[in-house]
Amino acid sequence: MMAPSLAPAVAPANLFDPVHYAAVRKPLLQAETLPPWCYTDTAFYRREVERIFLKAWNFVGRGDAIPRRGDYLAFDFAGVPIILVRDDQGAVRAFVNACRHRGTKIVDDGTGAATAFRCPYHSWIYGLDGSLQVAPQMEDTVDFAKGRYGLTPIRLETWDGFLFITFDAKATSLAAWLGDLPAKMASYRFDDMVCVRRKEYDLACNWKIYVENAMESYHVPTVHGQTLQKQKRDINPPIDAKGAYCGLYTRHQGSRALMAGDTGFPFIPTLAGDAAAGTHYPLVYPSTMFGCTYDCMWWLELHPRGPDRTRLIVGSCFPRATAERPDFEEVAQKYYRRWDLSIPEDNEISERQQAGLASPFAYPGRFSYMEPLVHVIDNWVLDQVLEP
Ligand code: FES
Ligand SMILES: [Fe+2]
Repeated sequence: MMAPSLAPAVAPANLFDPVHYAAVRKPLLQAETLPPWCYTDTAFYRREVERIFLKAWNFVGRGDAIPRRGDYLAFDFAGVPIILVRDDQGAVRAFVNACRHRGTKIVDDGTGAATAFRCPYHSWIYGLDGSLQVAPQMEDTVDFAKGRYGLTPIRLETWDGFLFITFDAKATSLAAWLGDLPAKMASYRFDDMVCVRRKEYDLACNWKIYVENAMESYHVPTVHGQTLQKQKRDINPPIDAKGAYCGLYTRHQGSRALMAGDTGFPFIPTLAGDAAAGTHYPLVYPSTMFGCTYDCMWWLELHPRGPDRTRLIVGSCFPRATAERPDFEEVAQKYYRRWDLSIPEDNEISERQQAGLASPFAYPGRFSYMEPLVHVIDNWVLDQVLEP
């Protein structure tokens, strides 16, 4: 038997040379996992931000998080302070949350309501459409035109109430990014759902660790042995995806958003085809998983904050007719209990994985046949970040 050799695994100087990833490129059952430095190295992380998060269509929540004119949501995404706001016309807009005078971040992260945004430094004031409306004592400044100093807009497009932004002016449309996913998911009628709960967690792990975990069920008996394990399932091959996503589908009875034995709300009446016989779990690249089951949907939205820091946002959506039931709050507790038990289990195991991978004595591993999408996701990441 070969004893493991205690040689430190250091990240190579030419980090993006494909030669270091040849073993990940092999077919699933011959492949190795990503080298541990992909989860810990600052240069690798910076490349992911530049080639993935600054290029993709990134999911940033539901429009119903800011229902009224002037409602806004501010947060950091991959190092960019962002503000989403519903403007005077009722449309959602996205801006860089930084003053065009000398760059100060304008509003604190979180939600709020405003009629305008005033910079806390020298009181420049911007409208809900981002236009600069007041700039005190700038009248002597040569060639200064307020029209040229509005908040920097970010492209925003929507799919059935879901908001996506891209920082890439040359990006194709959101519809092109999503490909055939909206058609596959049409019978869930996401446009007729409302988000009833949104929870945030700060995680001490790399964003890929959490995405990989969300897209394999190999860990379910171990990590969720006391919770989800009692749900019966059969394992299907990954969804055939034509778009920037991958996905799992499992065929089973009863809502996946409930613990085994619990009863909940009526099923979504419009469900058709596979949606009427199981649950879809698409991962829209780079980092949002949508759990779509018989009676509701939930999402896991991951914002990268550093090589070993990630913010997780969990949103829960029900059909409007369900959310308007007089017994909604009472019955919804059963769903909340399921998420509040299982999500911390995934959070904890992800942080443990990061702790092990951060060691100089962490090495690449191998995959089970139960982890096809971990391999698919890792190869998608390599497709984006490696030369050329
Ligand atoms: S930095 Fe915003 S008003 Fe000066
Ligand atoms: Fe899990």
